[in-house]
Amino acid sequence: MQIRVLGSAAGGGFPQWNSNVGLNQALHEGTTRAEARTQSSIAVQGDNGRWLLINASPDIRQQILATPALRAGPGERGIGIEAILLMDSQIDHTTGLTLMREGAPLEIYCTRQVHEDLTTGLPLLGVLSHFCGVNWHEIVPDVDNAFTIANLPGVRFIAVALSSAAPPYSPHRTDPHPGDNIGLVIIDEHSGHRVFYAPGLGAVDEPLAALMATCDTLLVDGTFFTETEMIDQGVGVKTAASMGHLPQSGETGMLAQLARFPAARCILIHINNTNPILDPDSPERAEVESAGVEVAYDGMEIRP
Ligand code: MLT
Ligand code: MN
Repeated sequence: MQIRVLGSAAGGGFPQWNSNVGLNQALHEGTTRAEARTQSSIAVQGDNGRWLLINASPDIRQQILATPALRAGPGERGIGIEAILLMDSQIDHTTGLTLMREGAPLEIYCTRQVHEDLTTGLPLLGVLSHFCGVNWHEIVPDVDNAFTIANLPGVRFIAVALSSAAPPYSPHRTDPHPGDNIGLVIIDEHSGHRVFYAPGLGAVDEPLAALMATCDTLLVDGTFFTETEMIDQGVGVKTAASMGHLPQSGETGMLAQLARFPAARCILIHINNTNPILDPDSPERAEVESAGVEVAYDGMEIRP
């Protein structure tokens, strides 16, 4: 098994397409060592060389072109992606499915709640039924029952319901249901190595902490450094908590949470364009690194 980070930025990417401030501007002007990042997605390779795409970002075309290993056939229009697993129904995690309409029927793994969002508030699955078609495989979050993906040998998965937030167009936006957002333990069947992946994580409750304590690598929500980052930078009105993201700083923030676990590697992913950790020369990045925590980048490989 190997994991490839296809996109390490939060929604909007880095630089954000319409932003003229902060690190976005510095990147345009060439005055920062921060590197551009595409929107949130990873891929997991099974023993047979085939891949599971986890989240389909609007940048998927660029991501596939940048990752030759994903492009291996078979057939005149084949691709190495066997199936797609969706962690939630957020725009940055699902709208890449529209590009994939030009291929074979899509094998999509997601919860009942995400399927509901994608057939109501954001009806992508209905749209796709007019093109390639979709075969839905339901994920039922259950920490006691691992599942596999068809034609992806050597890897098992455990899904856990997370405390986060459903998107604004979800029928559950103000009425959270388990399954609106999931975390995933990705297990290498050969080494037993366990990677916990949660790009949208609002809180670490004790049952989740017990699960995270069993994992060797934690690849988790790196959206914001502070709770009011977007407000402070004058680019938004939402707090991290209102969006279902746990910021890195603070006594109960993500860095403090990660310090509780024995994992050999902790990596932040889904990083917003406002987050100063994008800048390798920032004090916030130094704080993250001195805590032994890594910052994901596009193309990063995780080989357990
Ligand atoms: C999120 O992660 O909170 C969303 O992707 C925000 C967005 O829609 O850009
Ligand atoms: Mn997002």
